[in-house]
Amino acid sequence: MATPHIGANKGDIAETILLPGDPLRAKFIADTYLENVKQFNSVRNAFGYTGEYKGKEISVMGTGMGIPSIGIYSYELINFFGVKNLIRVGSCGAYSEKLKLYDIILGMGASTNSNYASQFELNGTISAIASFDLLSRAKQVADEKNIPVHVGNIFSSDIFYNDMPKDWKKWASLGVLAVEMEAYGLYLNAAKAGANALTILTVSDSLVTKEETTALERQNSFTKMMEIALEI
Ligand code: HPA
Repeated sequence: MATPHIGANKGDIAETILLPGDPLRAKFIADTYLENVKQFNSVRNAFGYTGEYKGKEISVMGTGMGIPSIGIYSYELINFFGVKNLIRVGSCGAYSEKLKLYDIILGMGASTNSNYASQFELNGTISAIASFDLLSRAKQVADEKNIPVHVGNIFSSDIFYNDMPKDWKKWASLGVLAVEMEAYGLYLNAAKAGANALTILTVSDSLVTKEETTALERQNSFTKMMEIALEI
């Protein structure tokens, strides 16, 4: 049955899904890496596709930007379509001088300035963490392919244009590697429903050096990250 935001039938979506932020990147991934592709969603242009990679069924769908958006899509995918493994493939801004453009990060945990967790009425702060199984498998694949990866804490921000431009340095001082805008919501939705989630990121810009990549480079050049995500 279709949900408010995903116009698919149960069974149209594989147990494992790759989640880029950009729906056109989802199309690019389906066109480039998958066979026997069927589109399962176009509601709000959040394109979703199911196909085969090396004979195994896998889906890919754009989540939009930010925790509210990935929160909606991942909730429906897990709770209404039975998706078990959700792997976000995204971009991030580096907080550490050790990171160079196009470096890859596996988000072991996600910190945030979002109040997404307030819905659970916890009397403390929950740590949003990746699935150990997906994380260790991703690291294993990266090692086998000789692709260097950084593993650690990432920051899921609600703010892209921050009025406090140096705020990130406090998170960096605690070893947080990079900023993106979705992992925290994805990890908590997966935790609540007993699903598995992981975030794999490519560095698209650096808050340390102010280097940037272009949108076209971002869309097309993240092949190493895709090699890891697909092989998990
Ligand atoms: N901030 C937030 N999200 C991002 C960034 C950034 O600098 N780069 C890529 N995703």
